Amino acid sequence: MTTHKVGRNDPCPCGSGLKYKKCCLGKEAFHQEIDIKKEYYDKFRIRLKEARDIEGIRKAGNLVVETLQLVEKALRPGMATEEINVMVHEFTVKNRAVPASLHYKGFPKSVCVSINDVVCHGIPGDRILMDGDIVNVDVTTILDGYYADANQTYFVGTPGPDAEKIVRVSRESLRLGLAAVRPGNTLGDIGWAIQTYAEAEGCSVVREFTGHGVGFSFHEEPIVPHFGRKGAGPVLVPGMVFTVEPMINLGRKEIRILSDRWTAVTRDGSLSAQFEQTIVVTDTGLESLTPYEL
Ligand code: MF3
Ligand code: CO
Ligand code: CO
Repeated sequence: MTTHKVGRNDPCPCGSGLKYKKCCLGKEAFHQEIDIKKEYYDKFRIRLKEARDIEGIRKAGNLVVETLQLVEKALRPGMATEEINVMVHEFTVKNRAVPASLHYKGFPKSVCVSINDVVCHGIPGDRILMDGDIVNVDVTTILDGYYADANQTYFVGTPGPDAEKIVRVSRESLRLGLAAVRPGNTLGDIGWAIQTYAEAEGCSVVREFTGHGVGFSFHEEPIVPHFGRKGAGPVLVPGMVFTVEPMINLGRKEIRILSDRWTAVTRDGSLSAQFEQTIVVTDTGLESLTPYEL
């Protein structure tokens, strides 16, 4: 099946700048690439990314990681969460980028800051970080029109054993979820890897929030559940860009949303932690576009 009509002397649709006949004309792989792009869009509304898109998301992702590092260095007991918001906002705009969270569906700040039993979407404000808290900082940045999204959970001062455990299990949940990313595996394989591990540790996986496609906008197809069955869901193919971001609770999986309509907390008051990276599926596995050590 051919998807477009391109003349031999037209610019090559791969974007190389060469004439089509000097570039991709006759290359089977290129035609397959066009066809799989169309198939994934038609079947799943997944927009596969090309090399130049991935480069753009990688640049946005590197800025996200630098932002997280800046915040990590500044964290200390006594700090107000609004100070984190100011740091993220100022560092982002100084780098000619835009904080994606600000005004997103009415979210009022440039970063999500989620403490202890807050699962996600904590709104920065007057709350003060206390010794022994765990705090998740979730940064999404738009650079040259490309989006990247990552978060980490940090200790404030000295952690107790529960804090140590939930941060260890949620970090390992992301590591194992990412280890299941390779062409031919499915989205269900990722969720299965996470759920099996987290539940074996006596923890639980939040169902209401998932990973997501990202890059051209904040939340794209596909939905990436952090629970599920082996072999379920779309098959992973090179060029898929999405987040994996398991929210793991020390107690039960149920959550509720506070009256600010954003802050999600565990129903049982137990600790919740999360790590998130934006990745691209490659020919052999994955590349993190927001790389940090897990
Ligand atoms: N960064 C979150 C995610 O990982 C989404 C935050 S939406 C916001 O998908 F509006 F709260 F910023
Ligand atoms: Co995300
Ligand atoms: Co995020």
